[in-house]
Amino acid sequence: MTLLPAEIHLWPIHLNHLDNPASEFACVLSAAEAARAFRYRFIGDRQSFTISRAVLRILLGKYLGAKPQTIQFCYGQAGKPRLKNPSTLCFNVSHSGSMALLAFTHTSEIGVDIEQVRALDNLCGIAEQFFCAEEYRDLMSLSPDLRERAFFQCWTRKESYMKAIGEGFSTPLDQFRVTLLPEDPARLVHIGNDPDKAAGWTLHNVDVAPGYAAAVAYAGPPKNLQVITYSADLPRD
Ligand SMILES: CC(C)(COP(=O)(O)OP(=O)(O)OC[C@H]1O[C@@H](n2cnc3c(N)ncnc32)[C@H](O)[C@@H]1OP(=O)(O)O)[C@@H](O)C(=O)NCCC(=O)NCCS
Repeated sequence: MTLLPAEIHLWPIHLNHLDNPASEFACVLSAAEAARAFRYRFIGDRQSFTISRAVLRILLGKYLGAKPQTIQFCYGQAGKPRLKNPSTLCFNVSHSGSMALLAFTHTSEIGVDIEQVRALDNLCGIAEQFFCAEEYRDLMSLSPDLRERAFFQCWTRKESYMKAIGEGFSTPLDQFRVTLLPEDPARLVHIGNDPDKAAGWTLHNVDVAPGYAAAVAYAGPPKNLQVITYSADLPRD
């Protein structure tokens, strides 16, 4: 499968729509991944991990011209998986509810986040605690009926950036700012107090399925974003 340097491929996966039961995907996993899947207490979490990791292997196999089982991962300090063998191919994975979202590109660190949009008892309190002051101010300037969507758009923008740099929640969420208002295109505004550093990143929100918010962040100027539907008929190798 061809992925041009100026492209991002995003693969939304409807975990419940795949004809293959999770057990058919399990044979693609390494022994360590199978053991991890087994440790999930809830069947839904086990299936979500099994399918998304197997599809990740299948797609990496397509891009690299390799068998899915031969792909080897290494992990950053905060757990970000990357390819063990040197390659320009970068990827990231997110899952929420019955969806997973996989992102691939060449040479740009990339992060992706998907969240099921849901009612939160303490949405404003969470925003006050985790968003930076300007984001919180923007959220509170919206009418209550617009806040839930804006909250999740903002959350996915922030988490996709954190996942791109690989530091996870060890990065203080209030130390960088993203746009939040519905009329503002997705953008990192500043990182620390540095707008130039933020300008080195691109952010997009993506409509992947009703009831979900999703965003992708990557280093460098905008690339051509392609959303591709994953089908279980895609040959494994
Ligand atoms: C990474 C993190 C932000 C994911 O949050 P989440 O909303 O629960 O999960 P998502 O579904 O969006 O993403 C999970 C996927 O991101 C990837 N991932 C894991 N750690 C990651 C990291 N540090 N950066 C980027 N991606 C990461 C994995 O592919 C994972 O999928 P998997 O569970 O199928 O392996 C969160 O788990 C985190 O902050 N982890 C860091 C933990 C940490 O700091 N540990 C330090 C130990 S000293």
